[in-house]
Amino acid sequence: MTNPEESSWTGDVESKLLPIYQHRHKLIEAVKENQFLVVTGETGSGKTTQLPQYLYKAGLCRDGKIGLTQPRRVAAITVAQRVSQEMGVSLGHQVGYQVRFDDCTTKDTLVKYMTDGCMLREILTDRSLRQYSVVILDEVHERSLNTDILLGLLKKTPSRGCHGRTLPLKVVVMSATLETDKLSVFLGDCPVFAIPGRTYPVKELFCNLIGPKEKEGSAYVKAVVKMALDVHTNEAAGDILVFLTGQSEIEKACDMLFEKAESIDYRYDVNDRTVEGLLILPLYGSMPTDQQKQIFQPAPAGVRKCVVATNIAATSLTINGVRYIVDSGFVKQLNHNSRVGLDILDVVPISKSEAQQRAGRAGRTSPGKCFRIYNKEFWEKCMPEYTVPEIQRTSLTSVILTLKCLGVHDVIRFPYLDHPEERFILDALKKLYQFDAIDRKGNVTTLGRLMVEFPLPPGLTRALLKSAALGCEEVMLPVAAMLSVENIFIRPGCHFSNRTVITVITTILITVHTFLYFVHKGLPEKQKEAEIMHRELAARAGGSNDFLMLLCIFEKCRASENPSAWSKDHWIHWRALKSAFSVETQLKEILFRLKQRKDFPQETFKGSKSELLRQCLCQGYFTNVARRSFGKAFCTMDGHGSTVHIHPSSSLFGQEAQLDWIIFHDVLVTSRVYVRTVCPIRYDWVEGLLPKLHEIDVYDLSNVAREEVTDEEMARWEKKRVAQKQMETNEDASKKLEKRNDESSITEARARYLQRKQNRFQTKHS
Ligand SMILES: Nc1ncnc2c1ncn2[C@@H]1O[C@H](COP(=O)(O)OP(=O)(O)O)[C@@H](O)[C@H]1O
Ligand SMILES: [Mg+2]
Repeated sequence: MTNPEESSWTGDVESKLLPIYQHRHKLIEAVKENQFLVVTGETGSGKTTQLPQYLYKAGLCRDGKIGLTQPRRVAAITVAQRVSQEMGVSLGHQVGYQVRFDDCTTKDTLVKYMTDGCMLREILTDRSLRQYSVVILDEVHERSLNTDILLGLLKKTPSRGCHGRTLPLKVVVMSATLETDKLSVFLGDCPVFAIPGRTYPVKELFCNLIGPKEKEGSAYVKAVVKMALDVHTNEAAGDILVFLTGQSEIEKACDMLFEKAESIDYRYDVNDRTVEGLLILPLYGSMPTDQQKQIFQPAPAGVRKCVVATNIAATSLTINGVRYIVDSGFVKQLNHNSRVGLDILDVVPISKSEAQQRAGRAGRTSPGKCFRIYNKEFWEKCMPEYTVPEIQRTSLTSVILTLKCLGVHDVIRFPYLDHPEERFILDALKKLYQFDAIDRKGNVTTLGRLMVEFPLPPGLTRALLKSAALGCEEVMLPVAAMLSVENIFIRPGCHFSNRTVITVITTILITVHTFLYFVHKGLPEKQKEAEIMHRELAARAGGSNDFLMLLCIFEKCRASENPSAWSKDHWIHWRALKSAFSVETQLKEILFRLKQRKDFPQETFKGSKSELLRQCLCQGYFTNVARRSFGKAFCTMDGHGSTVHIHPSSSLFGQEAQLDWIIFHDVLVTSRVYVRTVCPIRYDWVEGLLPKLHEIDVYDLSNVAREEVTDEEMARWEKKRVAQKQMETNEDASKKLEKRNDESSITEARARYLQRKQNRFQTKHS
């Protein structure tokens, strides 16, 4: 079957109404004819859910899978669920997904949705992606770090005959309307297929609730709540989509909205008399998937739906029926903070182009309105034109290590779509050197090849490998797992854990009353209760080590008869802990596999057992060492000499006077720089490691990087030359000439043919 046959088409009615449906034949043709193709179209036009299905039906899976990458794990899962439903197959069979720590595929899977990180891992094990016939990089406009790297790697696509490939790999790059020309040029002037959109006008309003002065702080949360309520009471029926920053802000805003919406008297306060209720739904990345399903369901008649979401709703997921946007103007973004030398999740103003993308969400099904809570001055002074790609904002350690393991040694001249600043590349090389993943010449070490297997930051991986070398991984594995999941501590008043209960209850207005009464009445007592319980847990772990506390919680809960009840009693998020259990199992599996290798390091330990965990941690956190300077302040030892304080959530908070040296897991910047998840150490444990922070300076390393590039290249050229010479002497000269002629004439004819087809295609679509 080369063409999708209408009779066998199982696509439901809904999917036939999507803009992409009209263009499916041309789209399939374009994929067949081109090795690279850029596909662009408005969010919601059907790119993500439909294109893989078209290609599947058109028989493009005969020689391999169709892989589609997403920058966000929720999107990969949700979309795979949707597509399996549309195709009428059970998830994990023909259609599956793979995200970090969750593989829902089988050997039958032909359409595979996955995060870009997982695809990167696959390229690592098989450079020519033999299992795939088509790779679709989706949401490329988001410019996530991993997607950018994939673009660079796939730019040189594995061709026929390359490492056993029977056909060249096809690469489709999908993007919302931005930057498609740039992508096409990057991919050798490949054709761009634009799906004509169907959008309605959106009225954009500046509502002046915040200005440049409110750029710092959290005034936007309250402002967003006020705005959403105004829209609810004043505007005609139609759903609201509120763009906020992250989980805690969203849950806070939802709580405020519930409370305020409670006092609305629908007889007098609401302009549109058909509006009789408000259904408030949070949406963020780490939400359980069954809760996300509610987002897509239409609200009951007479009830207005209000989705309070992170940026995930800007392009990754389309919610139908949205007529009003409330735009906070902020986004949570991972930025490299050179002041503290770490990656920090910051709340920053969005770019103007992002604001336009957000506004566009209101015009999918009818004309809409976008309420921007900020004023024109904020727009002009605080918002950049475009969002800076992640590759230019973050530390690049795992990417650089991945590249190195792939044999891309020249990480400075790698074909980046946008080149990261050289100093960040050098920073990453430095970190990798410090954690023994690369040597002074920039070559990957044995340890580096082990480290790249772990989906963890390099420091944590280093600590884990140290513990495994010492044969005590059972203490580090839970710690690493606990540090890889969302915050496990329930702190009432900060956010509530059980959203489902609340969202269901809001539709039944009478119960809302009693529920909110219950929540708000007992708040201070509950806060105290949780605090006491957390302190008790800390004390059980010795009272002075946050990492050990995580280990204790993990073990106590797992050993208890009823782990979920245990979590509840101890004010711990059961959901987070449950995922920590699963992460631990998976890390253990990776480690088990790696330990079979002959070159897996083995060491012996001389100190006391109680020091074991801390010494392993030092191996991965010696870059995060601080020494107490004065009062409660500490000074970091990484060369920046920043002043930091212990965060109040740490069990060491208040014990500063008794401390000297500490290591910490992460940093939070508010008015002060706080360190979180802290553990006291002895100087002599890091003494031998600290020189590594300074012994190599950036200029040295840049020389190393360049020198290493030339060395590498020289070696490669030399090898090639020798091989060529050998071939020439071995092979009969005339036969060779004949063969060459044959090959080149075929390639040339083929190229001419492709060029003609491409020209035809371009004239059709221009
Ligand atoms: N999980 C889901 N449940 C219900 N509808 C969905 C789901 N995922 C996608 N859709 C719908 O499918 C349509 C096409 O979405 P999608 O393929 O993601 O478009 P694009 O990738 O072009 O932005 C949208 O109208 C969206 O609302
Ligand atoms: Mg999409």
